[in-house]
Amino acid sequence: MADIRCIGICTGGGDAPGLNAVIRAAVKAAILKYKWKVIGIPDGFDGLIWPERSRELSLKDVSGILPRGGTVLGTTNRGNPFHHKMMENGVEVTRDISDAVIANSRKLGMDAVISIGGDGSQKIAQELFAKGMKIVGVPKTIDNDLCATEVTFGFDTALHTATDAVDKIHTTGESHHRIMVVEVMGRDAGWIALEAGIAGGAHVILIPEIPFSLERICNYVSEREGYGKRFTIVVVAEGIRLPAELKQLSRGGAVGNLIGDGIALTAHKEVRVSVLGHIQRGGSPSPFDRILATRFGVAAVELIAQGGFGKMVCLRNERIESVSISEAVGHLKTVDPQGELVCTARAIGICFGD
Ligand code: F6P
Repeated sequence: MADIRCIGICTGGGDAPGLNAVIRAAVKAAILKYKWKVIGIPDGFDGLIWPERSRELSLKDVSGILPRGGTVLGTTNRGNPFHHKMMENGVEVTRDISDAVIANSRKLGMDAVISIGGDGSQKIAQELFAKGMKIVGVPKTIDNDLCATEVTFGFDTALHTATDAVDKIHTTGESHHRIMVVEVMGRDAGWIALEAGIAGGAHVILIPEIPFSLERICNYVSEREGYGKRFTIVVVAEGIRLPAELKQLSRGGAVGNLIGDGIALTAHKEVRVSVLGHIQRGGSPSPFDRILATRFGVAAVELIAQGGFGKMVCLRNERIESVSISEAVGHLKTVDPQGELVCTARAIGICFGD
């Protein structure tokens, strides 16, 4: 058993529904089971630049936060103590302030820290661990694209939000005989698009893992018209790799608009585009995410108690396990274009634009 009296906890990177459930579970387990003091670090590791901003978290502080989206600790996806941007003499410079961050964690009495975050935050956690900070990780991302864990909390809630949107788009699209494009999140992996597309009964799904052409999508729209379907729902992941013909037209901005314009011009159809954006990151976590987040929070405290520093909790074969952060970072879990889920979608006529 590690000799611990006080732990810190921080959330880094983009928020995800369930962060507060992890914080609540970790605070409760730390106080109730181990009688540790818990300190909340604001806005990721950057919060340790100003130690006076950290504050103790009591049981009362985490009361009522289970169903709340976002993170009560605040977060940032720009902060990195190894590449901290600051102004010096009116000029922006980048400095390594990791020593100060570690020193401040010790000044605050933290014997160990729980870092809740995605790939970027866990990379920072790994570097801080290599410099002597006792850290354990909790994985998070709505994109569900971390190899080390079967599921990340936040994904299920985002999937519900995206599926609900596709359901709603369905009725208006069908009524107006339109092509409806729905852009969902998924920077590197198409999990939200694929699963919301299947769950919402979309006809075309475009994901980063499968190259597509506008021509194939337009032919598919005509094929549908051939058997009396005068509307088509296209779900697009924000991270799709654009074919050459669309790359030329791109002026940045939402790819959903580009796909919508491309279909309208090529197929001469009426198209409407909805970009769901950060709606998918907000809102109350689903029961699945609340439970997974609670299991992760408790498991992180147990990892600290056992001295499992440099490790991250994860879900494998539906069991909570741990993996070393150094092995976990940098390995993305993307959709297998030959996988069962894609084959299932193809079997029911869903087009991937290829
Ligand atoms: O990684 C999670 C994610 O929601 C991605 O799907 C998306 O590309 C990104 O974060 C958006 O981040 P930001 O909050 O910086 O816009």
